[in-house]
Amino acid sequence: MRAEDKKEIYGMLQQIDSWIQGVPSVTFGSVPQFTDDRENSREHDAPSSSLHASVTESSGFSDTEQKKDSDVSVQDALDNVAKKIRECQRCGLAKTRKKAVPGMGVVHPTVLVIGEGPGGEEDIQGLPFVGPAGQLLDKMLAAINLSRHSNCFIANIVKCRPPGNRDPLPEECHACRSYLDAQIAILKPRLILCMGRVATQNLLQTTLGIGQLRGKFTEYNGIPCMATYHPSALLRNQELKRPAWEDLKVFRERLQQICPGYEGH
Ligand code: URA
Repeated sequence: MRAEDKKEIYGMLQQIDSWIQGVPSVTFGSVPQFTDDRENSREHDAPSSSLHASVTESSGFSDTEQKKDSDVSVQDALDNVAKKIRECQRCGLAKTRKKAVPGMGVVHPTVLVIGEGPGGEEDIQGLPFVGPAGQLLDKMLAAINLSRHSNCFIANIVKCRPPGNRDPLPEECHACRSYLDAQIAILKPRLILCMGRVATQNLLQTTLGIGQLRGKFTEYNGIPCMATYHPSALLRNQELKRPAWEDLKVFRERLQQICPGYEGH
């Protein structure tokens, strides 16, 4: 790896650490003097697949898709945030969780999907949306050619399960917010899809109901953002499936406008 790449990664880690801690990073203090790794210089030019064997995979929309050095720094930065989340003791949810759920998906996602918080199955597996609602979410995404395995990253407002699947408390959302903001800053998604009232109200800091929020684009940190019904709501009420599909078509249209490589079905 080249010295300048190492420096870039270090800078990202420094920035993320200070976002998360809320003060200048102590762990990543003054920048060390980095040197090029000569023996690895050929590796540097070649696409690497082994570096991305974990749940984080490559983006699906580019035909010339190759693993890039930037993937490595994004991966490192994401891993660093995930580590902080797994160690987090900022709110009461840390006491009742089995596993924290940092998120999963590709390193350069076209879409960041944001849910409310882990449920029972997610708490056991440490992965987002893997229970019944998650299976429906995957189908909703697949209907517009999106997937956590090719072009999305899935995260939640709170990273630990609220007991009994209650709504997360304002202080829990507040405590967790810098993790989500760090993930957004690292991932730089083109679009955000927000699932359900709780996630949307929290993300956008609004008290409007999901009926008013859904199907319309707004922005979060300069990124176009649209809300639709949470898959759990669709499981409870079949009648919401049609309006949710209307929302997804609006979302697909925006994807087609801004992502030339994207082909919705
Ligand atoms: N519901 C959510 O909002 N997020 C999950 O990860 C699972 C269920």
